[in-house]
Amino acid sequence: MKILKLGFCMFCFLTFPLSSFAENNFTFLFLGDLHYNTPNHSANKIVESIARDIKDKGYQVDFICHSGDLIENQKAGHPISLEEGRKQWEFAFSHVKSTFKLPFFMCPGNHDWYGDTWFGGKKNIEELLLPFLSQELKRNVKKPFYSFHWNNSYFLFLNHYGFDYGWDLEQARWLEKSLNYAERNPFIKHVFVFGHPNLWNLWYFRFNEHNLYLKTISKYKKVDAYFSGHTHYNTATVWKSGRNHGLLQITGSPLGNSKMISMDTRKLILNPPPSKRGYMRTYEGIRGYFLVSVEEEKVKVSFDMIGGEKVWEFQWEKPGAITETIEPPQREKTYLRKDDLEEILAAKLFIFPYTPEMFLPNRPELEILLNREKVGTIPRITDWLFSRANHFISINPSLIKAKNKIVIPNPHGEIFGLRDCYLWVKLKNGKEVLTNIYPYVIFSLPWRHIYVDFGLSHPTCGVLGSSIEENVPEELIKCFKPGEAVSFELEFNLKK
Ligand SMILES: [Fe+2]
Repeated sequence: MKILKLGFCMFCFLTFPLSSFAENNFTFLFLGDLHYNTPNHSANKIVESIARDIKDKGYQVDFICHSGDLIENQKAGHPISLEEGRKQWEFAFSHVKSTFKLPFFMCPGNHDWYGDTWFGGKKNIEELLLPFLSQELKRNVKKPFYSFHWNNSYFLFLNHYGFDYGWDLEQARWLEKSLNYAERNPFIKHVFVFGHPNLWNLWYFRFNEHNLYLKTISKYKKVDAYFSGHTHYNTATVWKSGRNHGLLQITGSPLGNSKMISMDTRKLILNPPPSKRGYMRTYEGIRGYFLVSVEEEKVKVSFDMIGGEKVWEFQWEKPGAITETIEPPQREKTYLRKDDLEEILAAKLFIFPYTPEMFLPNRPELEILLNREKVGTIPRITDWLFSRANHFISINPSLIKAKNKIVIPNPHGEIFGLRDCYLWVKLKNGKEVLTNIYPYVIFSLPWRHIYVDFGLSHPTCGVLGSSIEENVPEELIKCFKPGEAVSFELEFNLKK
């Protein structure tokens, strides 16, 4: 078939033995967001190093599941042409197949859907992805959402919602019907669902376009996990949906750091809501990969650093009831001694503001007072999505106390939000100490008055997944009255 042109023999150096486990046992490699770009792209090397690592460690892998954004399909902020995209698809398929020599299943992500325009990739999906999947599944795959059985397990792959209205409608019905079928079939012990966007966001104010499937998927007790990507995180979080049930969402991407840094050190985790949180581990992108092993009733998930150790492992027999067998690094709590207050070399107040009223006439600056002294103003930021950088205000070290009061007078009743607020200090001995993150998203007035509009635009449903309602649980919101000063405290952990 044209899409499987052989031209990359340099990658044909690895072969994997098929599973030699007991009859019903198997292992799959979970990958996402590779963003294949050109023959010299860094994704190629990462994929090859994962394959080498698996072989060196002697892991038995039966197949690969990819959660989308296989190709980049974009250049300098614009979608590339269908013709150029075609080359990326062909290269990506050829590379993953020749590197792993294993069945490869995937669901389309937003990048996979680009082509001439942001929604224009349907031709390549129909002419390249679907024939590729047909070959992998040895049957005719006509739509980018499909299911298959693997021993005692049932796999469902979803299309990215919001790119084709017709398929969106069909998919919703198909998902419900398929899960219903799996729930009633006594031979199906495990159900694994894959989709590119998250069912719930962890930090971003979007990228949760599959939030509309959360209710459906949570209903079915056989679902072991929903695997996604999109945000380039490596996380495992459980949303408790009843006394005895919880849904696990695993997000994974091997593009990122060679160190595991817990996201909640500097970011306020929004979902699942604190009252519905079960198992919870959150990391930004890490150079590592998940392996998922099914052993009869048990599912085991492990995470290996590429060329390094197995650093994280957890398992369950009942979906949502997770036991950790290898504990990964967690957020490191830092402490200040009373005497350290005299030893501060530098201090910063980190804040992440959202100020939608950019063009308010004659708007005064929003001043920030720290322990009654003016330390700066709130930067004007209208977009909570792309402001990935940490915004901070440098503080005179002599102002820092163990317990710090931050006040933002708002005499003109401006609408704004604040999140991810914390203080950072560096001591003369080089030690860095952080307060805990303020545990609420702050709004200067009742939050229902605030409109947020930076999600994916759906042709009939409007902007997807970016309202405050869909992103921040009410238990994490602190609102002030219009015109009232916004105030909160940031406290260092003290050690005697
Ligand atoms: Fe994506």
